[in-house]
Amino acid sequence: MEHTDLSAYFTHTCTRIKQVSFPIGTTHLEPPIALAPMAGITDRPYRDLVRSFGVGLMVSEMVASQEMVQAKPGVRERAELSADVENTAVQLAGREAIWMAEAARQVADRGAKVIDINMGCPAKKVTNGFSGSALLKTPDHALSLIEAVVSAVDVPVTLKTRLGWDDNCLNAPDVARRAQDVGVQMVTIHGRTRCQFYKGSADWRAISEVRAAIDVPLLANGDIVDTDTARAALTASGANGVMIGRGAQGKPWLLAQVAHDIWGSPAPDVPEGSDLVDMISKHYEAVLGFYGLDLGLRVSRKHLGWYMDQAQTPSVLRRQVLTAIAPAEVLDLLPEAILGANREITA
Ligand SMILES: Cc1cc2nc3c(=O)[nH]c(=O)nc-3n(C[C@H](O)[C@H](O)[C@H](O)COP(=O)(O)O)c2cc1C
Repeated sequence: MEHTDLSAYFTHTCTRIKQVSFPIGTTHLEPPIALAPMAGITDRPYRDLVRSFGVGLMVSEMVASQEMVQAKPGVRERAELSADVENTAVQLAGREAIWMAEAARQVADRGAKVIDINMGCPAKKVTNGFSGSALLKTPDHALSLIEAVVSAVDVPVTLKTRLGWDDNCLNAPDVARRAQDVGVQMVTIHGRTRCQFYKGSADWRAISEVRAAIDVPLLANGDIVDTDTARAALTASGANGVMIGRGAQGKPWLLAQVAHDIWGSPAPDVPEGSDLVDMISKHYEAVLGFYGLDLGLRVSRKHLGWYMDQAQTPSVLRRQVLTAIAPAEVLDLLPEAILGANREITA
Protein backbone atom coordinates (compact mmCIF):
# COMPACT_ATOMS: atom_id res chain seq x y z
CA MET A 1 0.00 0.00 0.00
CA GLU A 2 1.25 3.47 -0.89
CA HIS A 3 1.68 6.12 1.76
CA THR A 4 -0.84 8.31 0.01
CA ASP A 5 -3.49 5.63 0.54
CA LEU A 6 -2.81 5.78 4.23
CA SER A 7 -2.66 9.48 4.69
CA ALA A 8 -6.24 9.95 3.52
CA TYR A 9 -7.48 8.06 6.53
CA PHE A 10 -5.96 9.79 9.46
CA THR A 11 -5.69 13.21 10.89
CA HIS A 12 -3.13 15.18 12.78
CA THR A 13 -5.80 16.49 15.09
CA CYS A 14 -7.12 13.19 16.30
CA THR A 15 -7.44 14.44 19.86
CA ARG A 16 -10.32 16.60 18.77
CA ILE A 17 -12.42 14.03 16.95
CA LYS A 18 -14.09 11.00 18.37
CA GLN A 19 -13.57 8.14 15.96
CA VAL A 20 -10.13 7.82 14.46
CA SER A 21 -8.86 4.91 12.49
CA PHE A 22 -5.94 4.40 10.24
CA PRO A 23 -5.14 1.35 8.23
CA ILE A 24 -1.69 -0.08 8.41
CA GLY A 25 -1.97 -2.28 5.37
CA THR A 26 -4.98 -4.51 5.98
CA THR A 27 -4.92 -3.81 9.70
CA HIS A 28 -7.04 -0.96 11.01
CA LEU A 29 -5.69 0.67 14.09
CA GLU A 30 -8.94 1.88 15.53
CA PRO A 31 -8.67 3.60 17.91
CA PRO A 32 -5.00 4.55 17.40
CA ILE A 33 -3.44 3.02 20.46
CA ALA A 34 -0.82 0.32 20.87
CA LEU A 35 0.69 -1.81 23.58
CA ALA A 36 4.44 -1.11 23.70
CA PRO A 37 6.82 -3.99 23.10
CA MET A 38 8.47 -4.94 26.38
CA ALA A 39 11.01 -7.76 26.57
CA GLY A 40 9.96 -10.37 29.09
CA ILE A 41 6.52 -8.79 29.48
CA THR A 42 4.51 -8.48 26.26
CA ASP A 43 4.49 -12.20 25.63
CA ARG A 44 1.53 -14.01 24.14
CA PRO A 45 -0.41 -14.48 27.40
CA TYR A 46 -0.13 -10.79 28.28
CA ARG A 47 -0.96 -9.60 24.77
CA ASP A 48 -4.00 -11.88 24.74
CA LEU A 49 -5.13 -10.41 28.05
CA VAL A 50 -4.70 -6.79 26.94
CA ARG A 51 -6.42 -7.61 23.65
CA SER A 52 -9.37 -9.12 25.52
CA PHE A 53 -10.34 -5.59 26.61
CA GLY A 54 -11.01 -4.82 23.01
CA VAL A 55 -8.63 -2.27 21.53
CA GLY A 56 -5.12 -1.65 20.34
CA LEU A 57 -2.26 -2.94 18.29
CA MET A 58 -0.39 -5.53 20.34
CA VAL A 59 3.35 -5.40 19.71
CA SER A 60 5.36 -8.46 20.66
CA GLU A 61 8.50 -8.15 22.70
CA MET A 62 11.67 -7.72 20.66
CA VAL A 63 12.70 -10.86 18.76
CA ALA A 64 16.37 -11.15 17.79
CA SER A 65 16.20 -11.88 14.06
CA GLN A 66 19.29 -14.04 13.64
CA GLU A 67 18.58 -16.09 16.75
CA MET A 68 15.01 -16.61 15.64
CA VAL A 69 15.95 -17.81 12.18
CA GLN A 70 18.59 -20.09 13.69
CA ALA A 71 15.92 -21.43 16.08
CA LYS A 72 17.79 -20.56 19.26
CA PRO A 73 15.81 -22.05 22.17
CA GLY A 74 13.32 -19.63 23.67
CA VAL A 75 13.55 -17.01 20.92
CA ARG A 76 10.74 -18.20 18.68
CA GLU A 77 8.28 -18.17 21.59
CA ARG A 78 8.65 -14.39 21.73
CA ALA A 79 7.13 -14.13 18.29
CA GLU A 80 4.40 -16.64 18.99
CA LEU A 81 0.97 -15.54 17.90
CA SER A 82 -2.50 -16.54 19.01
CA ALA A 83 -4.66 -18.39 16.54
CA ASP A 84 -7.21 -15.57 16.33
CA VAL A 85 -4.79 -12.69 16.08
CA GLU A 86 -6.00 -9.61 14.31
CA ASN A 87 -3.92 -6.68 15.46
CA THR A 88 -0.55 -8.15 16.27
CA ALA A 89 2.81 -6.78 15.31
CA VAL A 90 5.97 -8.78 15.81
CA GLN A 91 8.98 -6.65 16.61
CA LEU A 92 12.31 -7.65 15.11
CA ALA A 93 15.78 -6.53 16.14
CA GLY A 94 19.06 -7.10 14.39
CA ARG A 95 21.89 -5.57 12.44
CA GLU A 96 22.12 -7.69 9.32
CA ALA A 97 19.69 -7.36 6.47
CA ILE A 98 19.80 -11.02 5.60
CA TRP A 99 18.56 -12.13 9.04
CA MET A 100 16.08 -9.31 9.40
CA ALA A 101 14.50 -10.10 6.03
CA GLU A 102 14.34 -13.84 6.67
CA ALA A 103 12.92 -13.39 10.16
CA ALA A 104 10.31 -11.00 8.77
CA ARG A 105 9.31 -13.56 6.15
CA GLN A 106 8.96 -16.26 8.76
CA VAL A 107 6.84 -14.28 11.19
CA ALA A 108 4.65 -12.91 8.38
CA ASP A 109 4.12 -16.49 7.17
CA ARG A 110 3.02 -17.41 10.67
CA GLY A 111 0.38 -14.69 10.71
CA ALA A 112 1.93 -11.46 12.01
CA LYS A 113 -0.17 -8.61 10.66
CA VAL A 114 2.60 -6.04 11.03
CA ILE A 115 6.39 -6.21 11.35
CA ASP A 116 7.87 -3.59 13.65
CA ILE A 117 11.58 -2.79 13.49
CA ASN A 118 13.34 -2.08 16.78
CA MET A 119 15.58 0.95 16.59
CA GLY A 120 15.01 2.05 20.15
CA CYS A 121 16.35 -0.51 22.57
CA PRO A 122 19.05 1.17 24.67
CA ALA A 123 20.37 -1.97 26.41
CA LYS A 124 24.15 -2.29 26.13
CA LYS A 125 24.00 -5.91 25.07
CA VAL A 126 21.82 -4.82 22.14
CA THR A 127 23.59 -1.58 21.20
CA ASN A 128 27.03 -3.21 21.55
CA GLY A 129 25.87 -5.57 18.81
CA PHE A 130 24.98 -2.43 16.76
CA SER A 131 21.24 -3.21 16.96
CA GLY A 132 18.36 -1.34 18.60
CA SER A 133 19.02 2.34 19.16
CA ALA A 134 22.65 1.99 18.01
CA LEU A 135 21.20 2.03 14.50
CA LEU A 136 20.44 5.72 15.03
CA LYS A 137 24.20 6.28 14.82
CA THR A 138 24.41 4.58 11.45
CA PRO A 139 21.30 5.73 9.59
CA ASP A 140 22.48 4.55 6.17
CA HIS A 141 22.93 1.06 7.50
CA ALA A 142 19.61 1.27 9.36
CA LEU A 143 17.89 2.21 6.13
CA SER A 144 19.35 -0.79 4.35
CA LEU A 145 17.85 -3.07 7.02
CA ILE A 146 14.48 -1.38 6.76
CA GLU A 147 14.49 -1.67 2.98
CA ALA A 148 15.38 -5.35 3.19
CA VAL A 149 12.46 -6.02 5.53
CA VAL A 150 9.99 -3.97 3.48
CA SER A 151 10.89 -5.86 0.33
CA ALA A 152 10.77 -9.24 2.08
CA VAL A 153 7.13 -9.12 3.19
CA ASP A 154 3.69 -8.04 2.02
CA VAL A 155 2.50 -7.05 5.48
CA PRO A 156 3.08 -3.46 6.60
CA VAL A 157 6.39 -2.59 8.23
CA THR A 158 6.57 -0.07 11.06
CA LEU A 159 9.46 1.51 12.93
CA LYS A 160 9.92 2.19 16.64
CA THR A 161 12.75 4.44 17.68
CA ARG A 162 13.82 7.23 20.02
CA LEU A 163 14.49 10.95 19.53
CA GLY A 164 18.11 10.21 18.72
CA TRP A 165 21.25 8.74 20.20
CA ASP A 166 21.94 11.66 22.54
CA ASP A 167 21.28 15.40 22.74
CA ASN A 168 23.88 16.01 20.02
CA CYS A 169 22.29 13.53 17.65
CA LEU A 170 18.53 14.14 17.57
CA ASN A 171 18.06 12.59 14.16
CA ALA A 172 14.68 10.87 14.56
CA PRO A 173 12.92 13.26 12.11
CA ASP A 174 15.46 12.51 9.39
CA VAL A 175 15.54 8.76 10.04
CA ALA A 176 11.73 8.58 10.17
CA ARG A 177 11.41 10.51 6.90
CA ARG A 178 13.89 8.24 5.17
CA ALA A 179 12.18 5.16 6.61
CA GLN A 180 8.87 6.40 5.27
CA ASP A 181 10.44 6.94 1.87
CA VAL A 182 11.49 3.30 1.67
CA GLY A 183 8.06 2.05 2.69
CA VAL A 184 7.62 2.16 6.47
CA GLN A 185 3.90 2.68 7.16
CA MET A 186 3.88 3.90 10.75
CA VAL A 187 6.45 5.31 13.15
CA THR A 188 6.49 5.26 16.94
CA ILE A 189 8.76 7.61 18.84
CA HIS A 190 9.74 7.15 22.46
CA GLY A 191 10.41 10.72 23.56
CA ARG A 192 13.84 10.09 25.02
CA THR A 193 17.31 9.69 23.56
CA ARG A 194 19.19 6.43 23.83
CA CYS A 195 21.61 7.94 26.30
CA GLN A 196 18.75 8.89 28.60
CA PHE A 197 17.77 5.22 28.88
CA TYR A 198 14.63 5.63 31.02
CA LYS A 199 15.83 8.62 33.04
CA GLY A 200 14.14 12.03 33.16
CA SER A 201 10.83 12.53 31.42
CA ALA A 202 9.74 11.77 27.89
CA ASP A 203 9.81 14.92 25.74
CA TRP A 204 6.51 14.75 23.87
CA ARG A 205 7.04 18.17 22.28
CA ALA A 206 10.23 16.99 20.61
CA ILE A 207 8.18 14.24 18.94
CA SER A 208 6.35 16.97 17.01
CA GLU A 209 9.47 17.42 14.87
CA VAL A 210 8.99 13.89 13.63
CA ARG A 211 5.31 14.65 13.01
CA ALA A 212 6.35 17.53 10.81
CA ALA A 213 8.81 15.37 8.88
CA ILE A 214 6.55 12.47 7.88
CA ASP A 215 3.12 11.78 6.42
CA VAL A 216 2.51 8.26 7.72
CA PRO A 217 0.79 7.71 11.08
CA LEU A 218 2.83 8.51 14.16
CA LEU A 219 2.45 7.18 17.70
CA ALA A 220 3.85 9.05 20.70
CA ASN A 221 5.37 6.94 23.44
CA GLY A 222 6.95 7.43 26.84
CA ASP A 223 5.48 8.08 30.29
CA ILE A 224 1.85 7.82 29.18
CA VAL A 225 0.13 6.29 32.18
CA ASP A 226 -3.49 7.44 31.99
CA THR A 227 -5.96 9.47 29.96
CA ASP A 228 -4.57 12.83 31.06
CA THR A 229 -1.02 11.98 30.08
CA ALA A 230 -2.25 10.47 26.81
CA ARG A 231 -4.09 13.69 25.97
CA ALA A 232 -1.07 15.78 26.94
CA ALA A 233 1.24 13.65 24.78
CA LEU A 234 -1.11 13.88 21.79
CA THR A 235 -1.41 17.63 22.13
CA ALA A 236 2.30 18.27 22.59
CA SER A 237 3.45 15.92 19.85
CA GLY A 238 0.66 16.21 17.30
CA ALA A 239 0.90 12.41 17.01
CA ASN A 240 -2.03 10.40 15.68
CA GLY A 241 -2.10 8.04 18.58
CA VAL A 242 -0.26 6.70 21.56
CA MET A 243 1.71 3.64 22.58
CA ILE A 244 1.61 2.62 26.23
CA GLY A 245 4.03 0.30 28.02
CA ARG A 246 4.75 0.44 31.74
CA GLY A 247 1.51 2.24 32.52
CA ALA A 248 -0.43 -0.89 31.61
CA GLN A 249 1.52 -3.16 33.93
CA GLY A 250 -0.99 -4.58 36.41
CA LYS A 251 -3.74 -2.73 34.48
CA PRO A 252 -4.32 -4.63 31.24
CA TRP A 253 -7.52 -2.63 30.66
CA LEU A 254 -5.66 0.70 30.55
CA LEU A 255 -5.44 0.98 26.77
CA ALA A 256 -9.17 0.37 26.45
CA GLN A 257 -9.87 2.91 29.19
CA VAL A 258 -7.75 5.60 27.53
CA ALA A 259 -9.27 4.81 24.12
CA HIS A 260 -12.75 5.12 25.58
CA ASP A 261 -12.00 8.46 27.20
CA ILE A 262 -10.29 9.98 24.17
CA TRP A 263 -11.80 8.29 21.13
CA GLY A 264 -15.14 7.12 22.45
CA SER A 265 -14.62 3.39 21.92
CA PRO A 266 -16.68 1.15 24.22
CA ALA A 267 -15.74 1.43 27.90
CA PRO A 268 -13.84 -1.62 29.13
CA ASP A 269 -15.42 -3.88 31.66
CA VAL A 270 -12.80 -3.30 34.36
CA PRO A 271 -12.85 -6.36 36.62
CA GLU A 272 -13.37 -5.87 40.32
CA GLY A 273 -13.60 -8.14 43.33
CA SER A 274 -13.75 -11.84 42.50
CA ASP A 275 -13.74 -11.04 38.76
CA LEU A 276 -10.36 -9.36 39.20
CA VAL A 277 -9.00 -12.35 41.12
CA ASP A 278 -10.36 -14.58 38.39
CA MET A 279 -8.65 -12.52 35.67
CA ILE A 280 -5.32 -12.60 37.51
CA SER A 281 -5.60 -16.34 38.20
CA LYS A 282 -6.27 -17.04 34.54
CA HIS A 283 -3.36 -14.84 33.47
CA TYR A 284 -1.13 -16.69 35.95
CA GLU A 285 -2.20 -20.08 34.63
CA ALA A 286 -1.76 -18.94 31.03
CA VAL A 287 1.82 -17.85 31.76
CA LEU A 288 2.65 -21.18 33.40
CA GLY A 289 1.05 -23.03 30.51
CA PHE A 290 2.98 -20.99 27.95
CA TYR A 291 6.45 -21.21 29.52
CA GLY A 292 6.25 -24.33 31.69
CA LEU A 293 6.70 -24.21 35.45
CA ASP A 294 10.29 -23.00 35.90
CA LEU A 295 10.33 -20.03 33.57
CA GLY A 296 6.60 -19.51 34.04
CA LEU A 297 7.05 -18.90 37.77
CA ARG A 298 9.70 -16.27 37.11
CA VAL A 299 7.73 -14.46 34.41
CA SER A 300 4.45 -14.60 36.32
CA ARG A 301 5.99 -13.05 39.43
CA LYS A 302 6.55 -9.77 37.61
CA HIS A 303 2.87 -9.54 36.73
CA LEU A 304 1.74 -10.72 40.17
CA GLY A 305 3.93 -8.01 41.69
CA TRP A 306 2.23 -5.34 39.57
CA TYR A 307 -1.23 -6.63 40.40
CA MET A 308 -0.32 -6.57 44.06
CA ASP A 309 1.06 -3.03 43.72
CA GLN A 310 -2.40 -2.00 42.55
CA ALA A 311 -4.04 -3.91 45.37
CA GLN A 312 -1.58 -2.59 47.98
CA THR A 313 -1.04 -6.09 49.27
CA PRO A 314 0.70 -6.14 52.66
CA SER A 315 4.38 -7.02 52.35
CA VAL A 316 4.29 -10.34 54.20
CA LEU A 317 1.52 -11.71 52.05
CA ARG A 318 3.17 -10.29 48.95
CA ARG A 319 6.38 -12.15 49.78
CA GLN A 320 4.41 -15.37 50.31
CA VAL A 321 2.82 -15.07 46.86
CA LEU A 322 6.11 -14.22 45.17
CA THR A 323 8.08 -17.03 46.76
CA ALA A 324 5.49 -19.81 46.53
CA ILE A 325 6.56 -22.57 44.19
CA ALA A 326 3.36 -24.59 43.97
CA PRO A 327 0.85 -22.96 41.61
CA ALA A 328 -2.02 -24.21 43.79
CA GLU A 329 -0.60 -22.26 46.72
CA VAL A 330 -0.38 -19.06 44.67
CA LEU A 331 -3.94 -19.50 43.45
CA ASP A 332 -5.10 -20.06 47.05
CA LEU A 333 -3.34 -16.91 48.24
CA LEU A 334 -4.56 -14.65 45.44
CA PRO A 335 -8.06 -13.80 46.76
CA GLU A 336 -6.62 -12.51 50.01
CA ALA A 337 -3.63 -10.87 48.31
CA ILE A 338 -5.81 -8.99 45.85
CA LEU A 339 -8.97 -8.40 47.85
CA GLY A 340 -7.75 -8.76 51.42
CA ALA A 341 -9.99 -7.92 54.30
CA ASN A 342 -11.47 -4.42 54.13
CA ARG A 343 -8.92 -3.20 51.58
CA GLU A 344 -10.12 -1.12 48.67
CA ILE A 345 -9.04 -2.14 45.20
CA THR A 346 -7.88 0.65 42.94
CA ALA A 347 -8.82 -0.01 39.34
C1 LIG B 1 11.13 -3.98 30.71
C2 LIG B 1 11.08 -3.25 29.40
C3 LIG B 1 11.33 -3.92 28.23
C4 LIG B 1 11.30 -3.26 27.00
N1 LIG B 1 11.51 -3.96 25.85
C5 LIG B 1 11.40 -3.33 24.65
C6 LIG B 1 11.49 -4.06 23.43
O1 LIG B 1 11.63 -5.29 23.42
N2 LIG B 1 11.40 -3.35 22.27
C7 LIG B 1 11.22 -1.99 22.25
O2 LIG B 1 11.15 -1.38 21.17
N3 LIG B 1 11.12 -1.29 23.39
C8 LIG B 1 11.17 -1.93 24.57
N4 LIG B 1 10.99 -1.23 25.73
C9 LIG B 1 10.64 0.21 25.63
C10 LIG B 1 9.13 0.38 25.63
O3 LIG B 1 8.55 -0.19 24.47
C11 LIG B 1 8.74 1.86 25.70
O4 LIG B 1 9.28 2.51 24.58
C12 LIG B 1 9.26 2.53 26.96
O5 LIG B 1 9.01 1.73 28.10
C13 LIG B 1 8.58 3.90 27.15
O6 LIG B 1 7.18 3.76 27.19
P1 LIG B 1 6.35 3.68 28.58
O7 LIG B 1 6.77 4.87 29.41
O8 LIG B 1 4.91 3.71 28.17
O9 LIG B 1 6.74 2.40 29.27
C14 LIG B 1 11.03 -1.87 26.96
C15 LIG B 1 10.77 -1.19 28.14
C16 LIG B 1 10.79 -1.86 29.35
C17 LIG B 1 10.49 -1.08 30.62
